[in-house]
Amino acid sequence: MIKLDLQFASSFLTDREWEYQQPFITDAVARLRKADVPGSDFLGWIHLASETLKQGVESIERAAARIREDSDAVVVIGIGGSYLGARAAFEWCKPEYYNQLPPTKRGGPEVYFAGNQLSAAAVQDLLQVLEGKRVSLNVISKSGTTTEPAVAFRLLRQWLTEQLGETEADKRIYVTTDQHKGALKHLADAKGYPTFVIPDDVGGRYSVLTPVGLLPLAAAGVDIRQLLSGAALAEEELTVTHLQDNPSLRYAAVRNVLYRKGKAVEILVTYEPALRTFAEWWKQLFGESEGKDQKGLYPASVANTTDLHSMGQFIQEGSRNLFETVVRVENSDAAIYLPSDPQLEDGLEYLAQKPLAWVNDQARLATQMAHADGGVPNLTVTVPDRSEKSLGELFYFFELACATSSQLLGVNGFDQPGVEAYKTNMFALLGKPGYEQQSKAMQERLS
Ligand code: PA5
Repeated sequence: MIKLDLQFASSFLTDREWEYQQPFITDAVARLRKADVPGSDFLGWIHLASETLKQGVESIERAAARIREDSDAVVVIGIGGSYLGARAAFEWCKPEYYNQLPPTKRGGPEVYFAGNQLSAAAVQDLLQVLEGKRVSLNVISKSGTTTEPAVAFRLLRQWLTEQLGETEADKRIYVTTDQHKGALKHLADAKGYPTFVIPDDVGGRYSVLTPVGLLPLAAAGVDIRQLLSGAALAEEELTVTHLQDNPSLRYAAVRNVLYRKGKAVEILVTYEPALRTFAEWWKQLFGESEGKDQKGLYPASVANTTDLHSMGQFIQEGSRNLFETVVRVENSDAAIYLPSDPQLEDGLEYLAQKPLAWVNDQARLATQMAHADGGVPNLTVTVPDRSEKSLGELFYFFELACATSSQLLGVNGFDQPGVEAYKTNMFALLGKPGYEQQSKAMQERLS
């Protein structure tokens, strides 16, 4: 089970303070389970993993096997909730230099992510690396109309067609989208692309355990059954509402108490580069769920020890509106020991024969103590290892905490109305039909 340790937060809040949240948490969870909350159409994530395991993942595994068989590279096209979870899990489960490994060691296609920005240079660089390779595309968009993935798909589909001709290119396109509607759905139907459904009742940021994440992950050789099993286990373990027995709900309670005490910025801290995109997934989950109605904790992240040499100063001595949540991986499977080498005269001989993972963990402990002493409460979330199962548990741990925490905050945790504002402006500036008035007003403002 995932553990939550409050040792380095204890001087900032008493147990009593978060225990006082018990009735509010009990009520929030009861309302979630009765679907009596704002955004109640989007509660499919609650039993998603167990239901998916029951229904089976054979069709996903079949498509993944075909991609693994006939592709040197797969490009996963999507943004936001249709991107971050898959990438987070891919990086968590696979080696850092996966794409650079020889095919025999990698055991599957190279994996690239596209459609998560609008950079021309990024497309150019991607096309360069894809040259001469047998490529498949997995385009993921629930709405089917999001600009960034639609632009990337348009470019990559054209590139693939130029390489192979339309008929062969069409055999290499896999679509993940809404069951009934959207431009992508219509195209997939017309072309006969294999299509995977994003359930109506699962919002983007909760969708990693739908085909959104499962297909690209299976194509990359991630054990999706283990991933789902971990989440299904968490579904069961985190059913209890008593805060002492449920670390996910305790986390929701504690972060809300800290918020009310002026700690409005939560920094997710990792000590493994493989968790970098996991932190991005976490930021979207909490940022989009809670940041509305002029409320919410601002979710930030640092990747240590790298960022101790850039952000460490601020966290130690800057504005005191921060707290940190460290995600700690308890057991590293990397058996790297520091060698003895007296010739170096670097003062590190006392570390000879010590495991590097132990050194990293001492850095983590030292930092947590220093930051707590400097006025930054530190929570520690511990996962046993970097297995698929542990990651599945962790996804669910944070999803439940986020949904509950949003109730405590009094916001709709399942919508994202603020995301539309930039899109309207962008469409107006790009000259999209139907946006003529806004376009004129904006051009006047700009001139
Ligand atoms: O959480 C969300 O709803 C967003 O981040 C969406 O996932 C993102 O905008 C992508 O949307 P779509 O899947 O419709 O392309």
